[in-house]
Amino acid sequence: MTDHELLAEAQAASANAYAPYSNFHVGAAALLRDGGVITGVNVENAAYPLGVCAERCALSCAAAEGVRPGDVEAVAITASPCGGCRQWLAEFKVDRVIFLHEGEVLTRTPAELLPDSFVL
Ligand code: THU
Repeated sequence: MTDHELLAEAQAASANAYAPYSNFHVGAAALLRDGGVITGVNVENAAYPLGVCAERCALSCAAAEGVRPGDVEAVAITASPCGGCRQWLAEFKVDRVIFLHEGEVLTRTPAELLPDSFVL
């Protein structure tokens, strides 16, 4: 699957975003090394801080299937990943992150998105 196709999967997933408060629908798609794709959406909550970002949703669903750091080749997101999600992308040791930013498709490594990141 190409990065362009993966971003298209993220865009299709965004239709299922639950974002009644921000009305900002985000989709994410994680490409696994075995070729599988797991999507996620942002899921908001009336208690605002409890909402979940689309890429965290995708990585959480992937983890539930047994996916571990190093198993994810790429993650595509329909928005620029927030700071917290950058830490998640670093944790899962994703090779590359493809996302839409100000009308452009950008491809970055987790280290480019979050230099000198915290490691336990
Ligand atoms: N959002 C994401 O899903 N991913 C990001 O990395 C950026 C922000 C969501 C969270 C919230 O539901 C909405 O976008 C507006 O901030």
